Amino acid sequence: MEYKRPVILTKALILFVLVNCVHSAAAAAAAARSITNRALNPNRPCVACGSCPKSKASQYDRRGCTDCNTAKTRCCDGVINDYFQNDQFENLFSNRDSLEAHAKGFWDYHSFIAASAHYQPYGFGTTYINSTFFGTKEVAAFLAHVGTRTSCGNKVASKEPLEWGLCYNKEINSNSTNYCDEHVKNIYPCAPGVAYYGRGALPIYWNYNYGEASKDLKVDLLNHPEYIEQNATLSFQVAIWRWMTPIMEHQPSAHDVFTGYWKPTKNDSLAKRVSGFGATINVLYGDLVCGQGDNEFMNNIISHYLYYLDLMGVGREEAGPHEVLSCAEQVAFNPTPSSSP
Ligand SMILES: *[C@@H]1O[C@H](CO)[C@@H](O)[C@H](O)[C@H]1NC(C)=O
Ligand SMILES: *[C@@H]1O[C@H](CO)[C@@H](O)[C@H](O)[C@H]1NC(C)=O
Ligand SMILES: *[C@@H]1O[C@H](CO)[C@@H](O)[C@H](O)[C@H]1NC(C)=O
Ligand SMILES: *[C@@H]1O[C@H](CO)[C@@H](O)[C@H](O)[C@H]1NC(C)=O
Repeated sequence: MEYKRPVILTKALILFVLVNCVHSAAAAAAAARSITNRALNPNRPCVACGSCPKSKASQYDRRGCTDCNTAKTRCCDGVINDYFQNDQFENLFSNRDSLEAHAKGFWDYHSFIAASAHYQPYGFGTTYINSTFFGTKEVAAFLAHVGTRTSCGNKVASKEPLEWGLCYNKEINSNSTNYCDEHVKNIYPCAPGVAYYGRGALPIYWNYNYGEASKDLKVDLLNHPEYIEQNATLSFQVAIWRWMTPIMEHQPSAHDVFTGYWKPTKNDSLAKRVSGFGATINVLYGDLVCGQGDNEFMNNIISHYLYYLDLMGVGREEAGPHEVLSCAEQVAFNPTPSSSP
């Protein structure tokens, strides 16, 4: 079920990224990435948690299951609201309800926490690996992508562009195309009069992404994509679904590459792909952003991440070296067909 998108379109999209039109670049990148999106894996639960004997589970106490499972220690029993509170959310997204914001009154902390509940048992914001807790950094990383994609920081007169996350809750200029991929319409039929433009805290595009997210979330998004822009919990759920679900089969998700649950193969090493924040950019945007050297869109996501780490009390010095933060030299997990020079 593969087909190649026209080279000219690809080049135009890359150009968008390079000219730093942040919002439409993000939209275009997501749209382009999504074309190769097929056959998503179901999320894998954190099975190691279940192997912790109940009697020991109480000792686990945020230090991991070191007492009960030393061999393959992966745990995810916690909850995000234990370490991420409403006032931190307010600090991260301090301008989201200002007059200039396009989605004033839409987003709140409780919708994020409610949305997280569905994915916490799968390790979202709750993962320990070998006694290292990844939760706080993962939430900062995830929200950094969200903040970047929903920001209007480049559009308002402000000295602090990083303070404008959650300004939007849908793609602007949403009428330009309906994002209905005719090649897959027998599996993901497009509803009449409906457009599958970018919606959600990490916007999804195209009928097949709406269709796949529907299956996981058990909400009929193919017939009712508008639910996402009416319901902040659903909007965050869609975003976390994107974060937790590989773009293609047998590939890691953004969650997997961030927590290091994914183990790079020799090929990955040759392609300079290493676990960490930079690899999440690779999973979500591929060669539209990565392997292009330093670029404004990538640096903007990284800036959001560092800023959020500070606000969440982790501190940007914990973010790791630039090679791990950046994907400037990484080859894409999913190279865009025909885009190589
Ligand atoms: C956890 O530790 C074990 C034993 O030291 C090691 O084999 C394994 O690769 C580690 N897992 C991760 C994800 O780092
Ligand atoms: C999109 O189309 C609807 C109905 O055709 C119209 O009301 C709306 O203003 C359009 N929005 C944009 C951004 O062009
Ligand atoms: C919003 O979405 C959530 C999650 O899908 C759902 O539980 C809730 O009922 C929805 N709220 C409304 C008002 O539809
Ligand atoms: C590594 O890359 C080579 C060349 O692209 C490919 O033929 C091979 O199947 C890859 N190996 C793995 C394990 O993916």
